[in-house]
Amino acid sequence: MSNELLVLSGPNLDLLGTRSPEIYGSQTLDDHVSRVRARAEAAGFTVRHVQSNYEGVLIEAIHDARTTAAAIVFNAGALTHTSWALADALAIFPGPKIEVHLSNPAAREPFRHVSTLAGVVNGSIAGFGALSYDLAVDAALSLLA
Ligand code: DQA
Repeated sequence: MSNELLVLSGPNLDLLGTRSPEIYGSQTLDDHVSRVRARAEAAGFTVRHVQSNYEGVLIEAIHDARTTAAAIVFNAGALTHTSWALADALAIFPGPKIEVHLSNPAAREPFRHVSTLAGVVNGSIAGFGALSYDLAVDAALSLLA
């Protein structure tokens, strides 16, 4: 089995730290990935991180992960609420898949209440701010153990 975790970040997450800090907090995406990497490495895993504002790049990263990664931790941003193509791509990845959100979409605008990914992931972690990422990587590592 691969010892790589793919951490995938969708649109606008590259702006974390300055984007609506009252909702998403002040930490940057690099801050979240650094913590995830430290947790994963302590368990003997490496982390590959891909951020893109383009759906097709995210889909191709999931395709590649079928032969390179043991698990996927995915914050798809707003594509969570619209993308059946990402759901289809995730469905064919055989390992654990964790959906993660900094905010709690269920407590926000109605369009955020739907997740196209929810039905194809092992589980979703949302609403804990930076802690969501820590919980998500722990969930992935537990499912791999
Ligand atoms: C988000 C929630 C989404 O609704 C939003 O579009 C994002 C960030 C989160 O991490 O809370 O871009 O995925």
